[in-house]
Amino acid sequence: MNQFFLMLRAENLTKIYRSGEDEVMVFENLNFEIHAGEFVAVVGESGAGKTTLLHLLAALDTPTRGEVYFLRERIGDYTVRQRAAYRNEKIGFVWQMHYLLPEFSAIENVIMPSLIRGEDFETARLRGAELLAEVGLAQAAERQVGELSGGERQRVALARALINRPQLLLADEPTGNLDARSAERVSTLLEKLHRDHGLTSVLATHNMELAQHADRALRLAKGKLTEAVIPEVS
Ligand SMILES: Nc1ncnc2c1ncn2[C@@H]1O[C@H](COP(=O)(O)OP(=O)(O)OP(=O)(O)O)[C@@H](O)[C@H]1O
Ligand SMILES: [Mg+2]
Repeated sequence: MNQFFLMLRAENLTKIYRSGEDEVMVFENLNFEIHAGEFVAVVGESGAGKTTLLHLLAALDTPTRGEVYFLRERIGDYTVRQRAAYRNEKIGFVWQMHYLLPEFSAIENVIMPSLIRGEDFETARLRGAELLAEVGLAQAAERQVGELSGGERQRVALARALINRPQLLLADEPTGNLDARSAERVSTLLEKLHRDHGLTSVLATHNMELAQHADRALRLAKGKLTEAVIPEVS
């Protein structure tokens, strides 16, 4: 795969939340580029705007001003159908809260985005089983997600994020609710999946240990984005 083409670009990206008379300026005029194959951490304190930024990159929310480009296309120009396809087929998501369906089995959760896309059940099931094996949960495929541990659920969420072979993986504080050992396992897995699946990954976190798995970091602070040096944590 060509490792150097431009995957994502933000141009003068600005987000202001308005409620009544009140305005919250989260960030203003962010400009950055993310190339294919990069693993980028977005770091910054709570409230700095990391989740807001990921929502804009995923077309889950619209910027107040500015543009996001995916493969040089303005996602702001997408039709409703193109936006849905962008979110379902181009991007895999992992959130701090796993958003899995607790009553359903691990494999049912993993393959759901694939079925929504229109894949036939047997093909989806085979790929789902492969992905569960990749995250070390082959034995848990038929278990209800509600019975799994937090770390296991995040691994199911990672498998689900990859079911539609996305180009882009967006992860928002994916280890936020985990103890240190499960967090380390999930972050190691994230890095491995990034590599093995040829992904471009954007990871929002305030955890510097987690950020160390990335190739480079961008720091959000006071409404601005700067290249950051990740301190060594031993
Ligand atoms: N829907 C909303 N309406 C109004 N303000 C919002 C909304 N969502 C977020 N904010 C505000 O925008 C700012 C950035 O929030 P955001 O959730 O993006 O930060 P974050 O960096 O992800 O924080 P955390 O590390 O706690 O997850 C905060 O001041 C927050 O209160
Ligand atoms: Mg957040």
